[in-house]
Amino acid sequence: MNTGISIFDLTGKVAVVTGGAGVLGKGMAEGLASAGASVAIADVMLDKAQQLKQEIESQGGKALALYMDAFNKETIEECAQTIVKEWGKIDILVNGVGGNMKQATTSPELSFFDIPADAFQKVVSLNLLGGAIIPSQVFGKYMVKNTEGGSIINIASMNAIRPLTRIPGYSAAKSAVANFTQWLAVHFAQEYNPKLRVNAIAPGFFLSEQNRYLLIDEKTGEPTPRGKTILAHTPMGRYGDPSDLIGTLIWLASDASKFVTGIIVPVDGGFSAFSGV
Ligand SMILES: NC(=O)c1ccc[n+]([C@@H]2O[C@H](COP(=O)([O-])OP(=O)(O)OC[C@H]3O[C@@H](n4cnc5c(N)ncnc54)[C@H](O)[C@@H]3O)[C@@H](O)[C@H]2O)c1
Repeated sequence: MNTGISIFDLTGKVAVVTGGAGVLGKGMAEGLASAGASVAIADVMLDKAQQLKQEIESQGGKALALYMDAFNKETIEECAQTIVKEWGKIDILVNGVGGNMKQATTSPELSFFDIPADAFQKVVSLNLLGGAIIPSQVFGKYMVKNTEGGSIINIASMNAIRPLTRIPGYSAAKSAVANFTQWLAVHFAQEYNPKLRVNAIAPGFFLSEQNRYLLIDEKTGEPTPRGKTILAHTPMGRYGDPSDLIGTLIWLASDASKFVTGIIVPVDGGFSAFSGV
């Protein structure tokens, strides 16, 4: 029985990270490559994906940079075919597309009553359909055939556990991502392949282009009141760094978690554990 550190080893595994050119996607792609996986970076931002491919290769890793639009099944299918042609299979899917939008965020200028329906639709669609369901349909069709199974990892959020103020669409979408994670874990295990697992990571607060406007005052560079509240409610007292996700990601992607499916793991510096008192 292998109980050593090698159960975390991803050598010989093939991973695809959608949204892999983003802030967290980049950290996760680098983390998977550092554990030995061949990593396809699939994103609408092909130039950024290509840059990351070069960085991973310069560190001795194996990478592909592929154009993929998470709403367009044809582009996802092309990605899957390229990966299988190049590396023979797909073991790991990290669904890293997602995010919030200013137009779906309440503020002194935009009340809940005035948020346009299409802004809600876009946020729910980006996180739930593009961010989880559609790529899981396309890549999942390949993954269910793996005799060794595989691992799908969705990216939920603290919103999936309890909604945060101001971002009703994103909160609803991420709780749906958590729900879908559990649904798909059961569906794949019962209907297709008991070795194909589906889990999610719920990151706490990581500074990115999408949330910077909410957390840092553009004019002064100081934390906004919301940024201060988040840090005060994060017992570890800081924002996350993309590298903070790597250990959990490798655990979920590898045989180290081979009897784990349908869970949502917070990586949040203690935010979800803290009542505020
Ligand atoms: N940053 C945080 O604090 C935080 C916290 C919790 C959860 N998350 C989630 O983590 C994930 C990654 O977030 P991030 O902060 O790295 O965001 P990001 O904007 O840096 O990355 C998102 C990536 O997705 C790509 N993308 C967008 N639409 C796409 C589409 N239709 N098809 C293909 N690619 C597309 C973008 O080009 C970008 O590279 C998201 O699901 C986000 O909701 C982020």
